Amino acid sequence: MRSLLLIFLGFIAAPLLLRAGGGMWLPLLLENLNEEEMRAMGMELTAEDIYSINAGSLKDAIVHFGGFCTGEVISERGLVLTNHHCGFGAIQDHSTLQNNYLEEGFWAMSGGEELPNPGLFVTFIERMEDVTDQVLAGVTDSLSIKDRARLVQMNTERLKTDYALQPFEDLLIKPFYEGNKYYAFVTKTYNDVRLVGAPPSSVGKFGADTDNWEWPRHTGDFSLFRIYTAPDGSPADYDEANVPMVPKRHLEVSTAGVVPGDFSMVFGFPGTTDQYLPAAAMRQRTEVINPIRIGMRDLSLAVIDSAMRADAQVKIDYASKQARIANAWKKWRGESQGVEAVGAVAKREEMEREFLQRLEAKPSAKARYGKLLPELDRLYAEREQLEKTRAYVGEINYNVDLFRIANVLDAQFKVADNNGMEAFRERVPGIIDYLEEFYAGYRPDIDREVTRAQLRAYYDEVPREQQDMYVVDQLAFAASYDALIDDLFAGSYLTRGERLTELLRENPEDFIERVRADRGFQYVRQLNRFNEREVVDVYNAYAERINELQRSYMQALLDFFPERRLYPDANSTLRVSYGKFEGFTGVDGNTYDYMTYLDGVMEKYVPGDYEFDVPEKLRELYATKDYGPYATEDGRLPVCVLGSNHTTGGNSGSPALNGKGQLVGLNFDRTWQSTMSDVYYDPNICRNIVVDIRYVLFLIDKLGGAPHLVQEMTLVDAKR
Ligand code: ARG
Ligand code: GLU
Repeated sequence: MRSLLLIFLGFIAAPLLLRAGGGMWLPLLLENLNEEEMRAMGMELTAEDIYSINAGSLKDAIVHFGGFCTGEVISERGLVLTNHHCGFGAIQDHSTLQNNYLEEGFWAMSGGEELPNPGLFVTFIERMEDVTDQVLAGVTDSLSIKDRARLVQMNTERLKTDYALQPFEDLLIKPFYEGNKYYAFVTKTYNDVRLVGAPPSSVGKFGADTDNWEWPRHTGDFSLFRIYTAPDGSPADYDEANVPMVPKRHLEVSTAGVVPGDFSMVFGFPGTTDQYLPAAAMRQRTEVINPIRIGMRDLSLAVIDSAMRADAQVKIDYASKQARIANAWKKWRGESQGVEAVGAVAKREEMEREFLQRLEAKPSAKARYGKLLPELDRLYAEREQLEKTRAYVGEINYNVDLFRIANVLDAQFKVADNNGMEAFRERVPGIIDYLEEFYAGYRPDIDREVTRAQLRAYYDEVPREQQDMYVVDQLAFAASYDALIDDLFAGSYLTRGERLTELLRENPEDFIERVRADRGFQYVRQLNRFNEREVVDVYNAYAERINELQRSYMQALLDFFPERRLYPDANSTLRVSYGKFEGFTGVDGNTYDYMTYLDGVMEKYVPGDYEFDVPEKLRELYATKDYGPYATEDGRLPVCVLGSNHTTGGNSGSPALNGKGQLVGLNFDRTWQSTMSDVYYDPNICRNIVVDIRYVLFLIDKLGGAPHLVQEMTLVDAKR
């Protein structure tokens, strides 16, 4: 009877579960929450194979790359695979007009040619554990927000002393489920990470912004690095004498390919999601705040794009800046469209009604949670104007280089104020490095036009009472708005990098004094100081209360929706997402196949184009169908593939694994509207985009002429 019941339950429950989709799961909880479902979907591994504290497991091959992307170890000599856009900064730093690795690609033919990258690091997770009881010891409902925070802080500090950490190890304690749970992570960081290879940008960034966040996709978005250690194998800062790492574990690479319906798993470090916003807050984000940020970036991109088109050197110098600004700009558009297309706000409202209904059945819970949603809605609504102003000012600080550099220097000057001139002097070499890097490709004329476009919004859109009068007066005193911006740029040291660096070298004290008196610096400082005091501080006071309520709301959701396995929001910790390799039917009603091929690259090819050029050698390889062992049965070369894994920013470079835990691709993006999964995952349209590992291998071997790197990997299922 019991087994019959199980079969029966399995019969209906399984398809329901399989369709539920979504989720970024904690590796150490898979056994309880997910293993069964994963195996039903075609996984041949156990939870223990993925994460184990005792034995080597897949997690030992995954790294947090530079703190902003994911990478994976794919050879026993510490070779690391990540995206081209994750390695982009490093590739750009080594590029010059003569040795243009961005343009030409780069392949180290031996260890000696691998290029060091100061500041770049990778982090492994040694182990993780639930420390909720320790962190929340003594915490009760009756504590005030401040007292609770203080106690949590104290408990966390105490807990940290319990861990005996080795050099290069660290302990992170992070809140999950809005602070209802806490996990501790012991990490190990390696600081000598060298560039091994990258395809030309025309391949690694093929389709650039036009194709970014789009499907069908044809981007070879990968680059290769290698971790180096001290000769005894321990983590070490860069040293010529360092040797390639011997990792605990590296991934096997499968060249067998995947077909629709195959199990797919992505293992990496998703950054941030907001899955549990009330409907009203979701609407505010997608209908009010996203449009402001999008509009601000429209303005700066118009300036930067046309400058890049007009000048090859500007194209190199502004490549990374432009990509950074454009990426979120397009993502926000997709997110708002997706939420609108699937009616996510209405669905969330429906869930809220269901929540209230379930509360009705339990008077004690109703007393406790009944007012949560109206209270949250009220606070979000009251905060809206602050959020809008914060978005304008945030965008100005993000898009305008004059603001960026003034903020960096302002923070450094505080060191002098707080710790004295000696402390500042110690930092001078570091600041000089920073300035040299910052100003290497800086164009005051481009920045001036970006500023002109951006500050207009401050004067026009921010309500008077949230505007700094000093800034407003500047405008009143100037002959015109244009004259104000011209003056700001003509009269500021911050637009003349060399002179600025020289001043710092000559006399740090004098440097501080002059910069502090600088017109541009003062403008930025006044605007931001005012904004922090009158806008951000007030905003944060709201945020504190909102977070407190979101935490109760999360607890209530966990209690009242036990049948919906709710997963914690992304927080840059190691997570597993799983689904299938599969295409989708878009919000436009069209259906999209799960895979693209090199033929599609050639269809998009526009000779000499900014985004869709194709290197001559790749065209030749296509013409002769010289695909080596990497083609499909029917002789085509796969390029990208889609999966239904729940991913977000930070999952770039994550391995896409098959049911055996072998590497079949490299995650790098989502389809456009599926970026809404940051607030609402819809299994019908949310897809992650993966570059097929066979394309990666082909590009290394055939296009790059570096077969020794492929030979270094552990290939399985090779067909020929
Ligand atoms: N959209 C991907 C991600 O969020 C790729 C970004 C690469 N940048 C770009 N502007 N194309 O990181
Ligand atoms: N490209 C993103 C990143 O850099 C990952 C894609 C996404 O946001 O889904 O992390």
